[in-house]
Amino acid sequence: MARVFITGGAGFIGRWVVARCLADGHEVTAYDNLCVGRKSNLDEFGDRVALVEADILDEERLSTALAKARPDIVFHLAAHHFIPYCNAHPAETLRVNVEGTEIVCRQAAAAGVKRLVAASTGACYPGTDGLLTEATPAVPVDIYGLSKHIMESVLDYYHRSSGLTVRIGRLFNTYGPYETNDHLIPHIMDSLKTGPSIELGNIYTKRDYIFVKDTAASLYGLSQVDKGDLLIANVGTGIEYSAEEIVQMLGQILGSEITISVDEARLRPVDKPHQMADISRLVSATGVKPGYSLEDGLKELVDFEGIAF
Ligand SMILES: NC(=O)c1ccc[n+]([C@@H]2O[C@H](COP(=O)([O-])OP(=O)(O)OC[C@H]3O[C@@H](n4cnc5c(N)ncnc54)[C@H](O)[C@@H]3O)[C@@H](O)[C@H]2O)c1
Repeated sequence: MARVFITGGAGFIGRWVVARCLADGHEVTAYDNLCVGRKSNLDEFGDRVALVEADILDEERLSTALAKARPDIVFHLAAHHFIPYCNAHPAETLRVNVEGTEIVCRQAAAAGVKRLVAASTGACYPGTDGLLTEATPAVPVDIYGLSKHIMESVLDYYHRSSGLTVRIGRLFNTYGPYETNDHLIPHIMDSLKTGPSIELGNIYTKRDYIFVKDTAASLYGLSQVDKGDLLIANVGTGIEYSAEEIVQMLGQILGSEITISVDEARLRPVDKPHQMADISRLVSATGVKPGYSLEDGLKELVDFEGIAF
C-alpha cells in the first residue's frame, strides 16, 4: 500500500487515476480547485478518497495538504487543458500549467515525495503523418502545447536538481465516461442524445484516441517504474481515426446512419492533420499495453451515456 496524491483528481482522467489507485489498495488524496473537475466525479468512492478543494498556485494550502497526506507518489494532472479556453486565456494557462507545475514539484520535493508522474500531451508534437516517437522534436502550435512543453523542462529541472523521480506521460486524445471538457467525442455524445445527426468542425483530421481506463492504467504503470532516469513516454494506441470514421463506427454500434453537417464555428484556426503515438517505450517500460479498441471504448461510452435510437 502506498499513499498517493493526485492534483486534478476530480477531473476526467484524475477520476480514473483515483479509481486505478484505489483498486490496488492505495490511500488516495485528490487535490483540485474544481474549476473544471466535479466533486460528484468522486462520489462513487465515498470516504476512500480525501478531496482537498484548493488551487495548486496556493502554496500554503498545497504544502499543508502534502504534509497531511505524506504521499509516496504524486500524480500531477491539474492543468488548463481545453484548447479554446487556453487560447482565450494565454497568461492564465501559462501560470497554471507552468508556474503551477513548478510549485507542485518544489512542494512535493520539500515534502519528501519520491516519485512524481505528470500528464503532458501529444499536442507538443507536429501534425506529421506516421508514428510520433518521444524523440520527435516538439513544435507546439497553440498556447496549451507550449505550456506543456515548458512544463516538461520544469519537470526535468526538478528531476535533476531535487532527487524527485519524474515520469511524464505524453497523453494523446483520451475519451470515455465522466469527460469534463467539450472535446469531439463528448460533443458527438451530446448530439446523439437528441437524434442521429451531428454538426462538426473539421471531420478529416485524424487523432489517436485512447480509452480513459487505458490512459489511467498507463499513468499508473509509469508510477510503478521506480528506477532509472527521467522517463517520458507516449500514452496512446498507435492507431488514428478521423471524426468521420468515429461517427461511422458509432452508426454501426447504434444500428443507424448518422448524418454529419459542418459547423463553421467549430472549425479550429490551426488543426494538425495527423497525430499518432508510437507507444513502444510505454509498453517496454511499464508492461502496460492499451487494451481497448476504439469500437470497444465507444460501446462502453454509449452504454454509459444511455444512447440508443
Ligand atoms: N483529456 C485528454 O485528452 C488529455 C490529453 C493530453 C493531456 N491531458 C492532460 O491530462 C490532465 C488531465 O486532463 P483531463 O482531460 O482530465 O482534464 P480536466 O480538465 O478534467 O482535469 C484537470 C483538472 O485540474 C483541475 N485544475 C485546473 N486548474 C487547477 C488549479 N489551478 N488548481 C487545482 N486544480 C486545478 C480541474 O478542476 C480539473 O479537475 C491535464 O494535465 C491535461 O492537460 C489530457
